[in-house]
Amino acid sequence: MGVTVSGPAIAPAIEAAGLSKVYPGGTTAAEDISFQVGAGEVFGLLGPNGAGKTTTLRILITVLRPSGGHARVLGLDVVEQPTQVRQLIGYVPQERAIDRFLTGREHLELLAALYHLPKAHAAARIDEVLSLVGLAHKADEVARNYSGGMKRKLDIACGLIPSPKVLFMDEPTLGLDVESRLKIWDHIRELKARGITILLTTNYLDEADQLCDRIAIIDAGRVKAMGSPSELKAGLGGDVVSLTLSPADLAKVEGLSQAIKGQAGVRAVSTKQNVLDIRVASPESSLPAILSAVTAQGCRLEFVEYHRPRLDDVFLAYTGRKIKDE
Ligand SMILES: Nc1ncnc2c1ncn2[C@@H]1O[C@H](COP(=O)(O)OP(=O)(O)OP(=O)(O)O)[C@@H](O)[C@H]1O
Ligand SMILES: [Mg+2]
Repeated sequence: MGVTVSGPAIAPAIEAAGLSKVYPGGTTAAEDISFQVGAGEVFGLLGPNGAGKTTTLRILITVLRPSGGHARVLGLDVVEQPTQVRQLIGYVPQERAIDRFLTGREHLELLAALYHLPKAHAAARIDEVLSLVGLAHKADEVARNYSGGMKRKLDIACGLIPSPKVLFMDEPTLGLDVESRLKIWDHIRELKARGITILLTTNYLDEADQLCDRIAIIDAGRVKAMGSPSELKAGLGGDVVSLTLSPADLAKVEGLSQAIKGQAGVRAVSTKQNVLDIRVASPESSLPAILSAVTAQGCRLEFVEYHRPRLDDVFLAYTGRKIKDE
């Protein structure tokens, strides 16, 4: 009586099951990658350079054959039904392919012809995607003169020409300045609001955190963790106390780390040069003993802070390293 009974679960928009890829040269780029993306979600593959993100994405868009496993997009098998898959998806590649002499609009016209859109329909569609990505005012300028952010917007507009139900974006904001990144995030949210399912790759923690409904953390060709950013952060439990020692105490870091690892309420300690990140159940109760250990080991403290787990803490916890080791 007015109660919605949940029927059979709605099929995922994207499903990867045990995907693997060994390139002809012998590099294993993906090993047993599995995840599902629900219709209308923004899903992120987060991982460092060489993790296997582009490889996974290229399997899903049917241009790369997996060595093992299988994948479906909107219920269609990417190996068995590539043509049907391609008719339903859009793709924004990692490397932009912008011609130097064409205007933004001409790029889109070329693409519309490639997709066999009728001319009248194409013109309307082109105007729509240009305004969707905020490029209408630059449409008739030569794309060569666009800024990095504008070029990326044109890439996204290109991916939208076929009116995709699922859009794949490889590093949508790589190398952009902060303002352009925020604008692209807005456009991606707008696409989501229109019901488009989006799978993107990124190695920006804040992009994964703020833009994605759910993420899979990928490292060395494997999924290390999966969930919404807030679930993943909450899943770590406890907070992070971060100690910065005097650089002169570098040799004492390991001893201090061992001393702190044994304390009650301490869940994990990771060190990077003169910085110790300590995951604790409660900073208030653990801090006095931690500070005593610092003194007992003869270390000088330069800085101490504590915070709720952030996505960089999640990444570290599941992969044992920072996403960008500088
Ligand atoms: N065509 C190819 N032939 C051989 N090896 C490849 C090929 N493409 C990628 N690789 C290797 O596969 C691994 C994964 O590469 P991939 O491009 O999928 O990583 P990624 O996560 O997208 O990295 P990035 O963040 O740098 O874009 C890397 O070791 C890479 O060198
Ligand atoms: Mg890549």
